[in-house]
Amino acid sequence: MYKIVTLGEPVLNKNSIMIPEIDDEIKHFIEGMFETMYERKGIGLAAVQIGRPIRVFISHSPKDMPRVFINPEIIETAVEEDIYEEGCLSIPGINADITRPYAVKIQAWNESGRPFTLDADGLLARVIQHEYDHLNGILFIDRLKGKKKERLLKNYTRKAGA
Ligand code: NI
Repeated sequence: MYKIVTLGEPVLNKNSIMIPEIDDEIKHFIEGMFETMYERKGIGLAAVQIGRPIRVFISHSPKDMPRVFINPEIIETAVEEDIYEEGCLSIPGINADITRPYAVKIQAWNESGRPFTLDADGLLARVIQHEYDHLNGILFIDRLKGKKKERLLKNYTRKAGA
């Protein structure tokens, strides 16, 4: 199990880099990501949350199977939007309603390096967009407008300091 980096650590704001190939070390790292996600009862996790800014994230949302996304690209987003209360293992104890497109089409490599295209909607589309944001240094609280974000951050600092 890996340690998850939390809000305030600069790596979370970094743009993750593409990986040229999937070797045994990466495969092993991804296994460790799954262990860590399950241990922390998350449904998605990006490599950068382990402090390693490479373009890899995983998901296992309810009623879905475990999935690995390497060098992903969201190629389509639905016009229809959806509001859902999100949280993040890197910002423990904080949740907020976030508006996002209801569905996405994503291209990526799986853990064997095989390219795939996936149409996702509902919760899976939500997880994919949340994790994809992590690869671009964006946290879900960054999707909130000014005052709301400030209020949440104050709350977070108070909790962390308690
Ligand atoms: Ni997150």
